[in-house]
Amino acid sequence: MNKIGIVGAGNVGATSAQRIAERELAREVVLLDVAEGMPQGKGLDMAESAPVERFDTRLIGSNDPSALSGCDLVVITAGLARKPGMSRDDLQATNADIVGAISRDVRRVAPNAIVIVVSNPLDVMTYVAFKNTGFPPHRVVGMAGILDSARFRFFIAEALEVSVEDVTAFVLGGHGDSMVPLPRYSSVAGIPLAELLDSATIDAIVQRTRDGGAEIVSHLKTGSAYYAPASAVAEMVVAIARDKKRILPCAAYLTGQYGIRDLFVGVPVKLGAAGVESIIEIGLTTEEIAALQKSAADIRENIAKLKL
Ligand code: LAC
Repeated sequence: MNKIGIVGAGNVGATSAQRIAERELAREVVLLDVAEGMPQGKGLDMAESAPVERFDTRLIGSNDPSALSGCDLVVITAGLARKPGMSRDDLQATNADIVGAISRDVRRVAPNAIVIVVSNPLDVMTYVAFKNTGFPPHRVVGMAGILDSARFRFFIAEALEVSVEDVTAFVLGGHGDSMVPLPRYSSVAGIPLAELLDSATIDAIVQRTRDGGAEIVSHLKTGSAYYAPASAVAEMVVAIARDKKRILPCAAYLTGQYGIRDLFVGVPVKLGAAGVESIIEIGLTTEEIAALQKSAADIRENIAKLKL
């Protein structure tokens, strides 16, 4: 890839930029932020790590949205993060204004870009970016399923004292309290989870996964998670930049799949050079589909509060 823009040079944005640059996923990474000097300082600091880390990706910081000009991919992380006691939805009105404005900039200066949305509340902000860029739905995608699944996988590996590398798990639905971890589609080296852990342990892990973001906020107090979110962003960028056609849970635009229409909801997708190349419909039990549709209903209710 030639050029990747990261909007918002806070913890999630800066850490994503670092992971992307260190893996040389683009020739150039632009960090954009409204805070004067901040993206320039972080960009230069990261650039100065390049001789030691051995990467040739150029890093540039800017306060001017036109610096995104010609980007192939833009990652939107801008917006407020949660403080203790806040839900992701509390951020909605402010972040919708921020994400809406930046999406219109992207439309103007990088009309062919693929957009990955990270700002919260994730599924609503992805919809805001879709509406404000006017891009086709396959070029707008939300991060969160990979993060939530990574937390789920980590807790499973920890409970079983096995390598995280052998744990596969899927979390679907919205990135919120009604997310839908799917133990039935989770396995360790192909062994179904139910054969390895009792249902009470699985239930506790599912709940901890749902609360995973809040658990970090309660420790940090002044902000929310960023190392694992940035890893999830980098995995999506790898899939797109290298046309890997990975099957990953991402917030994608649904047009009737799973009985859901005109919403971005976390589902398994094929992610490659074109963006969301297809949406994969997996078989769900009546309970699982009800949980997914409940999660979708929550997202729809929040979108209805915005003037789009
Ligand atoms: C989390 C926040 C960033 O899940 O949504 O950590």
